[in-house]
Amino acid sequence: MTHDPSLRPRDHFTPRRGWMNDPNGLVVHDGEHHLFFQHLPDSLVHGPMSWGHAVSTDLLDWTELPIALAATDTEHVWSGSVVHDARNTSGLGVDGVGPLVALWTAHEPVSGAQRQSLSWSVDRGRTWTSYAANPVLDIGSTAFRDPKVLRDGDGWLMVLVLSDERTVETYRSADLLHWEHASSFGPAGSVEGIWECPDLLRVPVEDRDETAVVLLVSVQEGAPAGGSGMQYFVGQLDGPHFRPTQDARWVDHGADFYAAVSYSDAPEPLVQGWMSNWRYADLVPAATHRGSMTLARHLALRPRDGELVLVQRPVVRDSPVVHEVRDVPVQGILVLPVRARTCRVVVDIDPGDARRVGVHVRAGDGHRTTVWLEPASSTVGLDRRTSGETGFHDGFAAEHTAPLTVGDHAVRLEVVVDESSVEVFAGDGEVVLTDLVFPGPGDDGLAVFAEGGTALVQHLVVQA
Ligand code: FRU
Repeated sequence: MTHDPSLRPRDHFTPRRGWMNDPNGLVVHDGEHHLFFQHLPDSLVHGPMSWGHAVSTDLLDWTELPIALAATDTEHVWSGSVVHDARNTSGLGVDGVGPLVALWTAHEPVSGAQRQSLSWSVDRGRTWTSYAANPVLDIGSTAFRDPKVLRDGDGWLMVLVLSDERTVETYRSADLLHWEHASSFGPAGSVEGIWECPDLLRVPVEDRDETAVVLLVSVQEGAPAGGSGMQYFVGQLDGPHFRPTQDARWVDHGADFYAAVSYSDAPEPLVQGWMSNWRYADLVPAATHRGSMTLARHLALRPRDGELVLVQRPVVRDSPVVHEVRDVPVQGILVLPVRARTCRVVVDIDPGDARRVGVHVRAGDGHRTTVWLEPASSTVGLDRRTSGETGFHDGFAAEHTAPLTVGDHAVRLEVVVDESSVEVFAGDGEVVLTDLVFPGPGDDGLAVFAEGGTALVQHLVVQA
């Protein structure tokens, strides 16, 4: 059975119609999560971008609103961020109401110029006014973009990239209108691809009364699964200077996690990304819409071998438990007595003497996507080679792997499956792989397996 691109994911945001890429302007405000996004409603490929807009109270069910910031012939609205200027530092609020302020990259299609412009809203993001003195930051560059604004004491800090230089530039402002250069970071870590969509956030360390600063940088090439992906640096801020304290690491080892940034004013660090890869984003099966967001993910840091590693916990629907078992030995394939196209599987599995253990999802009719663990090589993998439709791009039918320490006891695998995606959180969120898949509507089987020995499923829960 072939994939049906008109079927929409249940728990992942897709635009009503047309093309979508990066999330923009993520902010929690007045009880709503705002998701703006790079959008071209009349096309299934990238072009003159506007900011689409959706709101949600639970990060799972979204209401799409009209376009927030619209492209013109001479100015396309590229990625950026939104902050709530609660103290009205910009003076753009009315009657003492602090506005929502968007900083975005104005991309001029003919010259290629990229400048930072500002728009504001005083009606909970429903309507926006463009600042009369735009742009607010122009250095005469054609590769200067994706401003992410954060609070800095009583003022503001902005991080954005000089994408060709592979640097993150920091600017400071007291009022969001006037910006002064403060620091520069990079090139560092992965520099094969141009840099995009930076973010700087303070992340708590698990079980310690400590935080560290994490710098997120999206890179268009050179990610572990091929093509675009995201690296992160852990460090500290020394005034406006970011000082890394360890080497760069990859945020996600799958192929489809890009341009993720954090929600401003979320009580704890919370990010969401675009679930695609610039290698084939314009080729994936599509009928009415193309592009999906990942689930939102809470971030923490976990001490591991003297370093701090990023841990991700997805925001999931609390669906009914449709299957649960404890202490079941597995040898070969154990088909589960439930079928689901959209589900969450959490399994604590002790590999025992098995060479490889894991789960099959979206199985049926010659298709399946496999999540596996291999104790001897300390590797976790996500194999979409036979996941369904894969022929639209040469590199799509692939297996993606990441190092994961598999100790003497059970490993927790959390696998979130939707209409066209599989997100794997292994080792309790320590290693993450996100992949698009395009199975048929009848591919809804689930199984646990152990190869070359006997594994013990200590606990398995399927929610659907
Ligand atoms: C990242 C990106 C950004 C840019 C936007 C344009 O995917 O290339 O750097 O602002 O998309 O749509």
